[in-house]
Amino acid sequence: MARFFFLLSGEHSSLPAAEVVGACEALGHTFKPVDVLDQVLVGETSAEPAVLAERLAMSWMIGFHLFTSPAFKREILDSLFSSDFLEIFNPRKTFAITVKRIKRSAQHLQTPELEKWLAEKISREVKFKTDLRNPEFELVFVLTGESCVGGVKVAEVDRKRFTARRPSRRPAFHPSTLTPVLARCMVNLARTPPGGIFLDPFCGVGGILIEAGLVGAIPVGIDIKPEMVEGAKKNLEAFGIRDYRLEVGDARKLGGMEVDAIATDPPYGRQATTAGSEVWDLYRESLHSMTEVLKPGRFLCITAPADIRETGKEAGLEVVDYHEQKVHRSLIRCFHVFRKPGSF
Ligand SMILES: C[S@@+](CC[C@H](N)C(=O)[O-])C[C@H]1O[C@@H](n2cnc3c(N)ncnc32)[C@H](O)[C@@H]1O
Repeated sequence: MARFFFLLSGEHSSLPAAEVVGACEALGHTFKPVDVLDQVLVGETSAEPAVLAERLAMSWMIGFHLFTSPAFKREILDSLFSSDFLEIFNPRKTFAITVKRIKRSAQHLQTPELEKWLAEKISREVKFKTDLRNPEFELVFVLTGESCVGGVKVAEVDRKRFTARRPSRRPAFHPSTLTPVLARCMVNLARTPPGGIFLDPFCGVGGILIEAGLVGAIPVGIDIKPEMVEGAKKNLEAFGIRDYRLEVGDARKLGGMEVDAIATDPPYGRQATTAGSEVWDLYRESLHSMTEVLKPGRFLCITAPADIRETGKEAGLEVVDYHEQKVHRSLIRCFHVFRKPGSF
């Protein structure tokens, strides 16, 4: 297993790191955390970084981890030279240096000056040449809190792809749809395996289904409203997803299927309809129904306007993970990750 660092987007305090773990497990690998710093996660996995970068939504880049040191010039340089850097990357290569600062970390260091100073020292010591346009490798130093995490960039997440799929750019729009970044994060938290059957039983116009289809799963969408199912069809087709199944149906009465992952964003009992059901009855009944169709050992990621971990346990699920996100003053979105006991 190799040790990597993930530069996490700062859009949530815990979801980006949880997404990394979920994506590794979805791909059939483990992730062993080594260090959790502000917007940086260090850990060991045998997952391929380029494949991970294709899946992740809440990371900026993945680097091969060389060291974590105190955020002082000398310590950074000494740690770099006492790392495996020279053995792994043969000398006389061209390189570039990027220093990234998380929030207001290490204010005593000026990033352009540090980049220049490190570049000079490295060039002098090992005769590497800097080439900012077309470097053979890029050294990245992330200043986070009191620490500096250093390594070599191995993959970059193209976050622009998610902007290109934002709800207003899809043929069928509905205001209740999640952003593609959150939808992809949920697909990863649900450990959706490539080629597996993925279910969203409250699919709306298919925001989560699109992300599941794009990671190579077969999306199955159910919604109680025919117009939503029609919208999901248009949206899936618009993103080139051809292998899918959609049905008008009730999430409380699933059956006749076995699925490998579930991620869903049911109505919160506000603007969105709950089809005449009390919102908590809807969660309780649909969680029982989802548990029935989920294969043992597989995962379910569900949002709710409050903590429903106990409801999940009553349905026979194990709690894996829980995160809260403030949507506005009077609404919290809670992300739950459950696992059905057993093994597949
Ligand atoms: C918050 S929206 C889902 C949004 C969806 N994630 C998207 O990207 O468009 C909730 C959906 O649940 C549907 N719904 C409400 N009650 C349902 C039920 N009992 N079974 C299935 N769908 C239901 C609503 O019609 C609505 O489309």
